[in-house]
Amino acid sequence: MKKTLNVAMIGGGFMGKAHSNAWLRVNEFFDAPFKVNLKVIVGDRTRQEDFARNWGYDEVSYDWREVVARDDIDIVNIGTPTYLHAPMAIEAAKHGKHVVCEKPCGMNYAECEAMAKAAEEAGVVHYLNHNYRRVPAVAYAKQLIEEGKLGTIYHWRGTYLQDWIMDPEFPKTWHLTEAKAGGGVLFDLGSHAVDLARFLIGEPKSVVSVHETFIKERPLPGANAATFSKGESSGQAEMAPVDVDDCAFMTLEFENGAVGSIDVSRFACGRKNFNDFEVYGSKGALKFNFERMSELQYFDFTLPLAEQGYRTILCTENVHPYQFAWWPCGHPIGYEHTFVNAFYDFLCAVDKGADIYPNFRDGANIIRVLDASKLSNKLGRKVQIEEI
Ligand SMILES: NC(=O)c1ccc[n+]([C@@H]2O[C@H](COP(=O)([O-])OP(=O)(O)OC[C@H]3O[C@@H](n4cnc5c(N)ncnc54)[C@H](O)[C@@H]3O)[C@@H](O)[C@H]2O)c1
Repeated sequence: MKKTLNVAMIGGGFMGKAHSNAWLRVNEFFDAPFKVNLKVIVGDRTRQEDFARNWGYDEVSYDWREVVARDDIDIVNIGTPTYLHAPMAIEAAKHGKHVVCEKPCGMNYAECEAMAKAAEEAGVVHYLNHNYRRVPAVAYAKQLIEEGKLGTIYHWRGTYLQDWIMDPEFPKTWHLTEAKAGGGVLFDLGSHAVDLARFLIGEPKSVVSVHETFIKERPLPGANAATFSKGESSGQAEMAPVDVDDCAFMTLEFENGAVGSIDVSRFACGRKNFNDFEVYGSKGALKFNFERMSELQYFDFTLPLAEQGYRTILCTENVHPYQFAWWPCGHPIGYEHTFVNAFYDFLCAVDKGADIYPNFRDGANIIRVLDASKLSNKLGRKVQIEEI
């Protein structure tokens, strides 16, 4: 009989749904070492009862400090805006809870270091949800690189583009407020892009960056902030300055000698969730785009010249990472499955008392690169990551 772990989910927004769904699915598709019970949903406003009913939570709370201290909570799952990640994660770790936290890790490198230290000292399992690592095609790319199929890595090209804030009437939500988000698209999508670069090819050493904010002021969300969702107009007249970046372009040197680029924007019309990378090595190359998430393009430079060419691998075979748990080959999985894959790995880590990656230490190293990018943009020069 498997033991049941109780989850406290903090934040009932987009990620609240994605995480609740994943906890509900993980034991249906994987032979996870623990059963999971959705014990309490914690919100900061009324209407959480509907959320609790929909996803099957036993209880509703509006006081996260009280909840993370409870003896009957095993896992604290943070899905709130970025400025709340560190206080919540540190408090949860102090109470001996295993922690799942959404990206970006925290507001700056020092804060993320404090999160990592608190979790390490408490000896709890800490997982930072850069879920794109657990797309089967991305995990397979990692496998190919580790097998040496690409040889020496020369180049990384990471691009993550969206277009949901291009309307100047889109209000200044928490995503567009530095004190709540830590940064604009740099922190939101740039954190994912840096995570993939670190995961697949290694640690950045230096960065040169240009950031820009195209819409300098936006309407405040006002009274309808609580119900606002992406794509709606605020309808409010009162304007406020925007203090975060709308795009960030970085050129990076890596510790292993590779040179690459990462560009992220929420002003790329037509790009919805265009999380894309290319890796070029001495023996081959790979290309991935999340908008076609089951496919991985592979170029084998060791083949005779006449036989060379990019080929598309459909990563839906049960030999591809995580696919054994899902559908027969050729029946693709989606965005939500990456969360289930991650939570299966998380439960296995709790069972074994092992580390899971990325964790808060990775999160700190990611934010360090983003802080360096901010500094480079401000000073107009190359910044060594160790300057941060
Ligand atoms: N991994 C991914 O693919 C992905 C996608 C989107 C967002 N995110 C990250 O997830 C986090 C949340 O983003 P979101 O899109 O779900 O935001 P959201 O605005 O949809 O939801 C945030 C939720 O936090 C709640 N909240 C705010 N303050 C609170 C408090 N003090 N106590 C309890 N609840 C509180 C709000 O009521 C809201 O329900 C962010 O860090 C974001 O970067 C990750």
